[in-house]
Amino acid sequence: MKILGIETSCDETAAAVVENGENLLSNVIATSALEHVKYGGVVPEIAARSQLESIIPVIAQALEQAKTNWSEIDALAVSYGPGLSGSLLIGVMTAKTLALNLNKPLYAVNHVQAHVYANFITKSPLKSYSLPSTRPKFPLLAIIVSGGHSQLVLFTDHRHYLLLGQTQDDAVGEAFDKVAKMLGLAYPGGPSIAQAASRGNANAFHFPVANMPGYDFSFSGLKTAVLRQAQAVVGENYTFPSIKLPNRLKKAQIADLAASFQIAAVNAITNKVKKAVSSYKPVSIVLAGGVAANSLLRQQLKQQYSECIYPDIKLCTDNGAMVASLAYFLTANNYASTDPYALVIEPALSM
Ligand code: KG4
Ligand code: ZN
Repeated sequence: MKILGIETSCDETAAAVVENGENLLSNVIATSALEHVKYGGVVPEIAARSQLESIIPVIAQALEQAKTNWSEIDALAVSYGPGLSGSLLIGVMTAKTLALNLNKPLYAVNHVQAHVYANFITKSPLKSYSLPSTRPKFPLLAIIVSGGHSQLVLFTDHRHYLLLGQTQDDAVGEAFDKVAKMLGLAYPGGPSIAQAASRGNANAFHFPVANMPGYDFSFSGLKTAVLRQAQAVVGENYTFPSIKLPNRLKKAQIADLAASFQIAAVNAITNKVKKAVSSYKPVSIVLAGGVAANSLLRQQLKQQYSECIYPDIKLCTDNGAMVASLAYFLTANNYASTDPYALVIEPALSM
């Protein structure tokens, strides 16, 4: 079964064709990320306009790369939430229109759950994808870490899961983005913090990891701790505006702050994973979401848990392949297709 997956929940416009939930035939991603750089974060209106411009060419390229024509596509899948309303609307309206015109089943899926399914893609004729060699097995512990979410979820099968814990304030990706902005590093903050950190000393500063109950996380205190430390480093007090910090910080200080922040953020995640693994003894552990691209997090988890799986970097951030894969495994487990006339976006959809 070949499914075309469409993803437009934030600033990426993405489409991919995946066969039987595991074989990646194409993966095309356009992004408006560069247009948001000067604002230090995603501007919803700009993101939505860019979605509109990119969606049709991106879908056409996804079919072309998969050497597939419409008659060979068995179904369509789309993320309908959570995300930015204007962005979600473009993908959902496009998917509905295609499903109705081509008379193909449509599957609307949860964007956050879809991130987990990037780990179910284990084959591809495409070059330059480094994919997991085995499919994850249940019960599986999913570590979902993105710009909007930080959650630990225990899946007992494709349709049943238990949300063990989540952030009570900022998502970890958001903390990377905000700390990057504070240090004068480019948006998105994840990759630029990781790059600056590679030149810094992770022991230069000791940032605290919030002691949250159960499996919950908190990253806003860590963000403030970095701000206070950066103010102290330039010899100022807490009233010094963060916007003036980048001009006062030296390159080496930025690298040390980035490295010390990164290790604290990674430790916050691995501490809770350790607790969940010892209580629930999952067979597989999967890393998902944009922050799953972080090499320190990948290394630390792999060192501790050989059963840990993570997607190719290109499948960590938003993509259509994860959407197509989730739709396949849901339909294979009796999930009914979505009525295109009834489908509406759900910007605040939760797991
Ligand atoms: O999953 P995603 O593409 O969008 C959401 O659903 O949020 O995740 C984007 C997030 C951003 O916050 C970005 O800074 C972060 O993923 N990210 C990283 C890395 N690459 C992207 N965070 C840490 N290290 C990275 N290498
Ligand atoms: Zn995402």
